[in-house]
Amino acid sequence: MRYYRSTDLNAIYDLARRSLREKYNPTIFIELPPYWPQGLIVLEEMDRIVGFIFGIMISNIEARILMLAVSQERRGQGLGTLLSEQFFMECSKKGARVVSLEVRVSNTSALKFYQRRGFSISDRFTHYYSDGEDGYQLQLFL
Ligand SMILES: CC(C)(COP(=O)(O)OP(=O)(O)OC[C@H]1O[C@@H](n2cnc3c(N)ncnc32)[C@H](O)[C@@H]1OP(=O)(O)O)[C@@H](O)C(=O)NCCC(=O)NCCS
Repeated sequence: MRYYRSTDLNAIYDLARRSLREKYNPTIFIELPPYWPQGLIVLEEMDRIVGFIFGIMISNIEARILMLAVSQERRGQGLGTLLSEQFFMECSKKGARVVSLEVRVSNTSALKFYQRRGFSISDRFTHYYSDGEDGYQLQLFL
């Protein structure tokens, strides 16, 4: 597990494209790193990126998870937990008290994953995603 490097860009973009329904403009992967490099964590296995978590600080006390993905064949083996725990540690070091994120209402496996890790639903946003689907906002108090 290590921090993101600019040379990871293609692999991360590819994993995001395969794992996440929302389509991200590749420029986000170039614009994010200078803000908080410790909030961008990747899991590498034999020169291959198998998971990543990207987050930002949105205030002095609140961090937000923007993306979390583990490659299909490595899911259900604890890697998502590992990435999120490392992220929470970075958040605490930075002084964050809350971690928030949005997830599609239909993404029941991710919703379950986050709830099992202490998140609870704090809001529901109508037509939050580009295809019109609603999103839940989830929050975890560190
Ligand atoms: C959500 C996600 C990151 C979780 O990563 P993961 O490595 O599978 O997570 P873990 O193995 O640590 O935990 C997954 C949980 O599901 C269970 N599980 C079992 N088989 C599984 C499988 N094939 N796929 C996913 N989860 C599985 C695990 O036992 C575990 O249960 P628990 O919550 O009771 O502990 C991953 O499923 C993923 O990349 N999903 C697609 C992208 C996505 O939806 N991201 C979140 C939106 S931001």
